[in-house]
Amino acid sequence: MIRLVDTVARHEQVALAVESGVRDVLRSGRYVGGPVVAEAEATAARMFGRAHGVGVSSGTDALTLAILALGIGPGDEVIVPAISFFATTEAVIAAGATPVFVDVGDDACLDPNRARAALTARTRLVIAVHLYGTMCEPPDLGVPVLDDAAQAVGGAPPRARGVLTAVSTYPTKTWGAAGDGGFVLGDDPELIDRIRRLGNHGMTAMHVHERVMGVVGRNSRLDAVQAAVLLAHAPHVPARVARRRAIAARYDADLPSAYSRVPRDKGSPIGVYVVRCARREELRAALAERGVETSVYYPRPMGRQPAISGAARCPRADQLCDELLALPAHEGLSDADVDHVLATCAEVLA
Ligand SMILES: Cc1ncc(COP(=O)(O)O)c(C=O)c1O
Repeated sequence: MIRLVDTVARHEQVALAVESGVRDVLRSGRYVGGPVVAEAEATAARMFGRAHGVGVSSGTDALTLAILALGIGPGDEVIVPAISFFATTEAVIAAGATPVFVDVGDDACLDPNRARAALTARTRLVIAVHLYGTMCEPPDLGVPVLDDAAQAVGGAPPRARGVLTAVSTYPTKTWGAAGDGGFVLGDDPELIDRIRRLGNHGMTAMHVHERVMGVVGRNSRLDAVQAAVLLAHAPHVPARVARRRAIAARYDADLPSAYSRVPRDKGSPIGVYVVRCARREELRAALAERGVETSVYYPRPMGRQPAISGAARCPRADQLCDELLALPAHEGLSDADVDHVLATCAEVLA
């Protein structure tokens, strides 16, 4: 089976470095916070050309903490693209704010004109989801922008235009840990400090048992074992992205036209490689039978999830969600694997 993601093969590439980094953490006794987490934070910030970073326990918490730190909550509206992983919406709701779902363009990213039309007196934030690694460039609506760069690590130029950038290091991402993790990145030291405290029970440092912010914080910390894993993987991210781009270029050139290309910018790290096809379910089943794993990112727009009611219809997103298909494009694929995927994609059309 040609897998959509191969975390075992990826681990094998860096097994010695990961295992020695983890062993050092285990022997150090510094399991939460400490120098290894600080080094991972600096590494994440460098990847996005940001001045500061805070390690957090997931991409979802990165988004939630960023929204809370910007002072956004009940009564406030946050513009989100209709298509993303549902965590983008969850974070807005966790902060007490209201997500406003805006239709997308052909690239499945926020449509700037529709975003402009969705602006109200209550709009306080736009979340720019760099879906699949494609740079989302929202219009200037006079409110801050938060980058959801969960699928965009390793892109060039870095996908970081907003006041804050949320990153996920879930194992399947281009920079994946051996468990959950993430970062909030930014240039404003006060904002970053607020996020660090919010994610550490309101404390300025470990075991400083005083709520100096006068807020109820939470525990959203990145642990040192995951930070060690991430540090071992970090030097390999550029080569992985280069390989993913080469695979994407082969697919762009050689897939039959029944798999329509989804526009993306040149700098995309190919967090996910997607095409559109009208007979998606039939093709998916046929590809699976012939040993090619695929996935659907995402089967329905976020506003049409059963947990959400009253969201405006987003017709473009509806159509894309019926057609989008993710193909294996991870860096562990050999040229023969890519040939096999291409041949199988052609064969199942018959
Ligand atoms: C676009 C997007 N936003 C947010 C998240 C949430 O990240 P995590 O799974 O680390 O909580 C993901 C993860 O899949 C994602 O793809």
